[in-house]
Amino acid sequence: TGMFTLDRGFTSTASCRSRITYIDGDLGKLMYRGYDIAYLATKKSFLDTAFLLLHKELPNKDEYKNFLLELKKRSFIHESMRKLFDAFPDNAHPMAILSAAVSALSTFYFDHLDMDSPDQAKEMAHRIIAKIPTIAAFSYRYSQGLPIIYPDLDKGFTENFLYMIRGYPHHHIDLKPIEVKALDTIFTLHADHEQNASTTAVRVVASTHAHPYAAISAGIGALWGRAHGGANESVIRQLELIGSVENVDKFIAKAKDPNDPFRLMGFGHRVYKNFDPRATILKNLQKQLVNDLSIDSELMEVAHRIEEIALNDEYFIKRKLYPNIDFYSGLILQALKIPKEMFAVIFVIGRTPGWIAQWLELKEQPDMKIARPRQHYLGPLERTPKYDI
Ligand code: CMC
Repeated sequence: TGMFTLDRGFTSTASCRSRITYIDGDLGKLMYRGYDIAYLATKKSFLDTAFLLLHKELPNKDEYKNFLLELKKRSFIHESMRKLFDAFPDNAHPMAILSAAVSALSTFYFDHLDMDSPDQAKEMAHRIIAKIPTIAAFSYRYSQGLPIIYPDLDKGFTENFLYMIRGYPHHHIDLKPIEVKALDTIFTLHADHEQNASTTAVRVVASTHAHPYAAISAGIGALWGRAHGGANESVIRQLELIGSVENVDKFIAKAKDPNDPFRLMGFGHRVYKNFDPRATILKNLQKQLVNDLSIDSELMEVAHRIEEIALNDEYFIKRKLYPNIDFYSGLILQALKIPKEMFAVIFVIGRTPGWIAQWLELKEQPDMKIARPRQHYLGPLERTPKYDI
């Protein structure tokens, strides 16, 4: 059985060659197509970043305008897809609805799909980036029994999403620029992260030449888990469970206990062993939001206390466990009054350009192979039946 190297969790296997995202886990560096994440998050918008991932260069003014227009044009979903939302129970998790709806989207764009046409691939890419926020907002509105809000073509990409979550028909809504900027930054920081679990899921499905939306739907499934995109929701659930600053010590002790499976959500990372550069950017943003929106909550205090203890505790230092992006994105989304069931969905909106860029790259590679790992078989080699019937 030893013919193949056993690599559980693929910690030392590169599954592809890629020119999209560079990570140096020891130095805490993250770059998309050679641009530092701090530059993109502070000086550029999510749409600039999405364009960069898809088209390999940052857009100039005209390209940006056209890109936004392309997305706006495609931001509505087929009216008959609304029936789909009715089929789910009220308490359905928006991630389940999103993955089902994205898969269902492939039924609307199947007949004329020529996978090898670059123009069609680009259209598929724009369409999915444009429609996912609408599907995401609809799934939330249906789950709450709220009137659905159609996209507002006069609004920017991120502003429109916040509007579809918060708005009411025929009612003007004030969205603070700092809120839009905070969400836009969260999208940017999530836009790609090389061969993480969900991107790998997308590539595995795409490697069989399946429909790209089936691949994206698989990515959404992989992102749902709490070890990946579900972490920011778990961060808030855990902070609520801890409840008050006095309880923090007890839970830190649980996290350190080798016989207790309890883990501090939002701590640790497979690749970043010094710090997560995305977390540093969000930590600053969180401070700014707390000031600008005058947020004063027990939850923030609990989070602050955990951070303080863990950063100085031998257990966490020895294992190189630092707050990751989800620790702060959970807190920021909470400050933006976005319900926690939507946190992973927001991760999906941010990650979609990355998944699509990876799909386009895979299609461009002439040496692309179907993803098909081997195993170490541990079962019996040959058995004779006990009863011959
Ligand atoms: N709290 C307490 N102990 C931990 C934690 C934690 N959050 N994370 C890791 N450890 C311990 C773990 O028990 C082990 O200890 P020991 O060596 O004594 O057995 C050691 O640290 C190494 O852990 P590991 O599970 O082997 O590390 P990994 O690289 O396989 O896992 C991780 C990385 C992110 C899954 C893990 O740190 C974790 O479960 N963190 C909490 C969930 C979380 O925040 N996930 C978001 C990840 S970042 C965004 C994303 O990718 O979506």
